[in-house]
Amino acid sequence: MNKKKILIFSIIGMVVVALIITGILVIKHINYTKTYEYKFNKIGYNKEEVVVLKNELKDKQLDELLNHKYDKNITRLVKEKYFIFNKLDDYLKYYKDNKDKGLTDVVAIINTNTNNDFYTNTKETDVSKNELMLINKYNYLTASYNPDDLEVFTNVYAYGENQSLRKDAYDAFIEMWNSANKDGYKLIVNSSYRSYDEQKKIYDDYSSWYGEEDADKKAARAGYSEHQTGLAVDIQSYCSQNKDFEECEEFTWLTNNAYKYGFILRYPKDKEYLTGYKYESWHYRYVGKKVSKYIHDNNITFDEYYAYFVK
Ligand code: DAL
Ligand code: ZN
Repeated sequence: MNKKKILIFSIIGMVVVALIITGILVIKHINYTKTYEYKFNKIGYNKEEVVVLKNELKDKQLDELLNHKYDKNITRLVKEKYFIFNKLDDYLKYYKDNKDKGLTDVVAIINTNTNNDFYTNTKETDVSKNELMLINKYNYLTASYNPDDLEVFTNVYAYGENQSLRKDAYDAFIEMWNSANKDGYKLIVNSSYRSYDEQKKIYDDYSSWYGEEDADKKAARAGYSEHQTGLAVDIQSYCSQNKDFEECEEFTWLTNNAYKYGFILRYPKDKEYLTGYKYESWHYRYVGKKVSKYIHDNNITFDEYYAYFVK
C-alpha cells in the first residue's frame, strides 16, 4: 500500500472512531436525561439530595415530585419516620407558618390533624377498624353506636356493678389483672364502657364545674369518648384512694407491662398537643398485642399510629 492510501484509510478510520464515540456519548446523554438524577438536578436538587429522594420514595412518588417546585425542606421531610407522601404540601405549608417547630413535630401534627382546632373538621369514625377504631377530637361515634359484645366485670375486678368492656378487651384485661395479681398488685376498673348519654352527663358536669375550656382537656364531648367504644378502661388501685394513681406501684407495673396484654396509655404526658387531653395516668385503651407493643416501643400516640398504619 502506498502512503496515500494509508493516509486515507487512517483518516476514514479516525472519522469512524470519532463517529462511534460521538454516537456513544449522544446515547449516554439521552439515557442520562431520562434518569431521576438529571431530572431532579434540573429543578434544583443536588446529587446528595437526589440520593435521599431515591432512597426514601417510590418511583411513582418521584414522578409526582418532579412536578413540584424545589424546596430544601423536602429532602429533610422524606427522611422523617412517619412521613406520608400525600401530605407533603400540608407539611411544607405548616412548617413555613411555624418555623419554631421541628420537622418531627410538624409531621406528627399534620398526620393527626391537630393543625385544625379541636372539634373542627370532624367525621364519623370507621368502626369497621374494630379494636383499631380511632376516637379523638376529630373522629366520633354516633349517639346510637353501642358495642354488642360487652362483658360485665364482677366486683372482684371493678368498683360498682356495671363495668364492662368488649369481649377481647375484657379477656385481655382479666389476663393482665391475673398477671398483676401474681406480682402482688390489685388493679381496679374504675370506669369502662360508657354510653353516649352517660358521657354527655360527665362532660356537662365537668363543663359546669370547670368551664368549657378546662372541661375539654379532661373529658370528651359525647360521641368523642373512647369509653363509648367499650375498649377503654380507667384503672385505679387501693393506693390511689389517697394518692395520684401515678404515684402508685400499680401504675409503675402497668407502665412496664400493660402493652404485653394489648393495652396502651392513651393520653401520655407531653403529648397533650396531639391528643387534646391532659395527661391521664389511668386511662388505658385496648388495641391488641401487636399494636400495643409497637406503640410502647416507639413512644407514639395511637393517633399517630392510626394515621400512618391504619388509615
Ligand atoms: N377522659 C377521657 C378523655 C374521656 O372522657 O373519654
Ligand atoms: Zn378514661
